Amino acid sequence: MTPHHTYRTLTGTSRLAGVMGWPVSHSKSPRLHGYWLAKYGIDGCYMPLPVEPKNFQAALISLRDLGFSGVNVTIPQKEMAMPQCDELSDRARRIGAVNTVTFAKDGRLLGDNTDGFGFIENLRQVAPEIAFASGPAVVLGAGGACRAVLVALLDEGSPEIRLANRTRKRAEDLAAEMNDPRIKVVDWPLSPDALDGASLVVNTTSLGMVGQPALEIDLAGLPQTALVTDIVYAPLMTDLLAQARERGNPIVDGLGMLLHQARPGFHRWFGIDPEVTQELRDFVLSPY
Ligand code: ATR
Repeated sequence: MTPHHTYRTLTGTSRLAGVMGWPVSHSKSPRLHGYWLAKYGIDGCYMPLPVEPKNFQAALISLRDLGFSGVNVTIPQKEMAMPQCDELSDRARRIGAVNTVTFAKDGRLLGDNTDGFGFIENLRQVAPEIAFASGPAVVLGAGGACRAVLVALLDEGSPEIRLANRTRKRAEDLAAEMNDPRIKVVDWPLSPDALDGASLVVNTTSLGMVGQPALEIDLAGLPQTALVTDIVYAPLMTDLLAQARERGNPIVDGLGMLLHQARPGFHRWFGIDPEVTQELRDFVLSPY
């Protein structure tokens, strides 16, 4: 008979967390956190929590009252979570959305946004020599993901951010809201001089994702040393990244951002800052 200790089950003192969303079936977070829980042998559980938007507020409070340590919040509830929180981190307030809620011992809801952290940590892990302050960044898009990238780049000391979006007004509104002269709105599609001297190019649009049109961009004029990254991770090798690699630029795919953004929540709820490894990437990408 197999000794009982080879089985891990929940106990009466398991720590509980999960991801709220509608739908939530596409979320990789349960496998990601589940992998770390198993790897570190933690008495905890991280579950998918499909919650209709109309039930969001009640569900969030109920999870707190059920003794959860915290939850991640995914689309479309990232903005809905903000007003429910008793306290917001500076970055969550500036990004304008919450993806990580921690239930404090006194019952207060602490909201954070770790997407920008995930973006930066992913680049740092894959390209440790990266110096965000060393040159202009070109950022494509103006949606929710873009906000996190902008806040993170500003905080890392980026000297100039050239922001381009199909709907120029959205980029202008975003630049006005961020109120930082380093953000300069440029034309979409990019003119060749928008790439001149850039040290980083980031796609935050949905272009290039499975089922979406490709991002059509002419990288001529981009220094060969510039790092090119995409927040799209399905497929891992987007047309943008393939084109950049072809001309010799270093590239970083978008999966790591998803993995790294999960670290602060896991750390708070389960007590360990977990590692992002190749084995984890393979595990998250593999079918169940
Ligand atoms: P998210 O919150 O995931 O960033 P979003 O707010 O829907 O999503 O933003 C999607 C981004 O992809 C936007 O910058 C959008 O450009 P618009 O603001 O002009 O809509 C961009 N995008 C989506 N489809 C596009 C397309 N076919 N061509 C150009 N940009 C596109």
